[in-house]
Amino acid sequence: MDFLRTRTLAYLIGAVEFADNIRLNILDSLTTFEPRAASSWNNLEGKTCIITGGNAGIGLATATAVARHGGRVVLACRSLERGNKAAKAIGVEACEGNPEKVHEVEVRELDLGSLDSVRSFAKVFNSEHRRLDLLVCNAGIMAPPERIQTADGLEQQFQVNYLGHFLLAHELLTYQRKHFISPKNSNSRTRGRNQHKPAGSASDLACSSDDISTRVIFLSSMAHRAGNLDFTDLQLNRSYSGFQGYANSKLATLSAAKEFQRQFDRSSSTRRDVAVAVHPGLVDTVLARGWLTGADVMGSAAQRFVAPVAKLLAPWLLIQPERALESILYAATAPADLVAGQYVASGRTTRPARQACDTATAEKLWHVSCKLAKMQPSL
Ligand SMILES: NC(=O)c1ccc[n+]([C@@H]2O[C@H](COP(=O)([O-])OP(=O)(O)OC[C@H]3O[C@@H](n4cnc5c(N)ncnc54)[C@H](OP(=O)(O)O)[C@@H]3O)[C@@H](O)[C@H]2O)c1
Repeated sequence: MDFLRTRTLAYLIGAVEFADNIRLNILDSLTTFEPRAASSWNNLEGKTCIITGGNAGIGLATATAVARHGGRVVLACRSLERGNKAAKAIGVEACEGNPEKVHEVEVRELDLGSLDSVRSFAKVFNSEHRRLDLLVCNAGIMAPPERIQTADGLEQQFQVNYLGHFLLAHELLTYQRKHFISPKNSNSRTRGRNQHKPAGSASDLACSSDDISTRVIFLSSMAHRAGNLDFTDLQLNRSYSGFQGYANSKLATLSAAKEFQRQFDRSSSTRRDVAVAVHPGLVDTVLARGWLTGADVMGSAAQRFVAPVAKLLAPWLLIQPERALESILYAATAPADLVAGQYVASGRTTRPARQACDTATAEKLWHVSCKLAKMQPSL
């Protein structure tokens, strides 16, 4: 019954978004798409940005935009070969605009499905004693038809989409917060609750260059609304559905973003670290196409007939990664008080599902996650 309820809810929300995507795609076919406040990417000039899964889809589009505007991009990829290929393409694309401010794109190995790989990535980066300005926890997988268990004994989506990023952000932020302290006084830490605030103009979106802080963007999804964090079966051992696992991992990610922010806010540090969750939209990538035409969405019998139609409709139902950048750009460059601990979708802060805002659930998830990843709970 629960399974039916969550799936129906997800389909309803998805249908509304698909309808809006068709509208946007028709608009884009008639006029040239003008990204809002695109010049705000300039705020990332000279900043170091790690992007997980930056070799494809939304991660690749984000990495290209950051590199084009003079950011120092570190691609964290599970395949060095695919990462190097992407770095080359990003370099060529980025140099078309303003070549003198483009930095070489770094490629490093990171498999989020292995806790050891995450730890060694963080260890190497921390050993270089570099400031980290932006961490985009983007890499993800969606709805494998069978339950896959990682070498760490966890359900694959839970680990790749959520726990691997949780550990990564924790290890990197712990180091940054210990070793890079802002000399400023903390009046920039005044909190604001600005729900439903649209993306502003370029001058609206300003990260002060002398701020020592790290902004962590967690790619969640509107699918989090179909998620359910059942602590008695987080690893879906009792019953597995690929979509349910995805939705749960995205709810966990959103809940963790909020808990990271609460922990930042509770500390006496003068740093203004920010954690923010983003739904990028339903975007034309390998992940979204795979789901749209896969067995999980319609059952294997219907798949044979519906998949070719879905494939045909995909360019209308899904938006291009450049449009998804609206939300990521807002999350990355809006003033801290507008986005700290918030959920951003369609380029603005939006109210997430109730369970994502539940503090007790978030605290419990934090402690369970620390246990699973064998790490210290404090930042
Ligand atoms: N597309 C959408 O409509 C949509 C909607 C909502 C949320 N999102 C979220 O947006 C994020 C990006 O998705 P996308 O649509 O851009 O997907 P994508 O095109 O399939 O790209 C996914 C990226 O994640 C990487 N990845 C997968 N498993 C990994 C692992 N174990 N370790 C390290 N990297 C791994 C992939 O690497 P390989 O190239 O090596 O496979 C790839 O670079 C995901 O978190 C997704 O859940 C997407």
